[in-house]
Amino acid sequence: MAGVRRRRLARGWLLLQLSLTGGAGGAGTGCDAAADAERLEPPWPVGEFPAPSGPIAVLELEPEPSNALRGEWERAELGRLLFYDPILSSDRETACATCHAEIWGRGDGLAVSIGVGGGLLIGPGRAGPSVLTRNAPTLWNVAFRRSLFWDGRSASLEEQVLLPLASPLELDRDPIALMDEIAAIPEYATRFARAFPKATGDAVTLAHLQMAIAAFERTLVSDQSIYEAWLAGDRRALGPEVLTGMQVFADAGCPSCHTPPTFDSERFAARHVGAAGGDRGRAAISEAPEDEGAFKVPSLRNLRNTGPYFHDGSVADLGLAVDHELAESGAVVTGDERRALVAFLTQALVDRSRGPAIPTAVPSGLPVPVDGFRVLR
Ligand code: HEC
Ligand code: HEC
Repeated sequence: MAGVRRRRLARGWLLLQLSLTGGAGGAGTGCDAAADAERLEPPWPVGEFPAPSGPIAVLELEPEPSNALRGEWERAELGRLLFYDPILSSDRETACATCHAEIWGRGDGLAVSIGVGGGLLIGPGRAGPSVLTRNAPTLWNVAFRRSLFWDGRSASLEEQVLLPLASPLELDRDPIALMDEIAAIPEYATRFARAFPKATGDAVTLAHLQMAIAAFERTLVSDQSIYEAWLAGDRRALGPEVLTGMQVFADAGCPSCHTPPTFDSERFAARHVGAAGGDRGRAAISEAPEDEGAFKVPSLRNLRNTGPYFHDGSVADLGLAVDHELAESGAVVTGDERRALVAFLTQALVDRSRGPAIPTAVPSGLPVPVDGFRVLR
């Protein structure tokens, strides 16, 4: 079933891209020669992205799509506005985007996140009283994950939305009061009705808010990196050092956990990050002794932007994170091989092409949280 749905989805997606670019082979790789080129083989099975946990809308489509994809597009667009709207927080300054911002690789650039009471500022300059214990994971490719959070305690994007909302350190918002307030904003009332046209009764419900935000999160697909261009036959896409790094990645056994093409997996593993006896990770959920200190395997896509690294953000430098992982894996490499591995991770797997537009205004009329890097005019 899932396979069939995925194929249909992929075809719909492709058709939309074709109609946009006016022909095959245009989107992503930007290389006509690639169309005829032989597919190149990496040192691991090429693999396919897992079936997404729901339909993937393509937000950047302009003009707005009609027909079958319309409903999904409306939901994702509503979700985009909610994701950036600080009405979701008790201090009216914190949004999902505060901790999952584009320039920080859909994390926040902090070792551990800071929630309500930290003001409108996003990024490493953020300070405040509500300091979490864990690093904000990227939301890139979260559509393809089944277990969410570092300890896998949530199984769906829809369900997950409620946790930051209710957490006193994150958004700290009472859902009933929130929905009352949202229902009173005409633009939201209209958008909920358009996104959920089949709703009997009031379309502005908490369940619909959860579905809309999840639909938005599923648009954050990153699958058009230079690695994909190379796979498709563009031999010049990856230089010699990066190709060496790809081989080192394979030889060091990294793909057994960071499995292509997502470069993550549903496994949990103890990599001995942070103090022993600290965060129990997966074991706090499963109570299985082998899960003591085990955390989810994070994606290595867009890694250049997602630091600081690991569940506690304890390592700021990617080279040092890689050294830790090499040592954990018992892999011994030369200086050149290590450099090549870092080059592979920072160059081959970067693709932020499907990042959505940041809204300049949201329906509540509250100011949208801002990246510390943005120059205010
Ligand atoms: C104060 C910062 C903060 C805010 C606000 C916040 N998050 Fe997060 N988010 C985090 C942190 C930290 C984690 C990891 C927590 C853990 O694993 O225990 C996380 C985890 C997640 C995950 C799991 C990702 C994965 O791969 O496991 C999703 C999805 C997510 N957040 C979405 C949202 C949404 C949607 C909102 C708004 C409703 C939101 N977050 C608000 C900090 C935040
Ligand atoms: C047994 C599974 C496993 C293997 C093998 C493995 N990793 Fe990891 N990796 C993990 C887990 C789990 C984490 C998160 C650990 C934590 O935060 O406590 C992680 C984290 C990372 C991170 C930090 C990413 C981030 O966003 O925080 C990098 C970089 C990384 N691994 C690279 C590698 C490389 C390179 C190799 C091969 C030398 C490798 N890993 C092998 C499981 C694995």
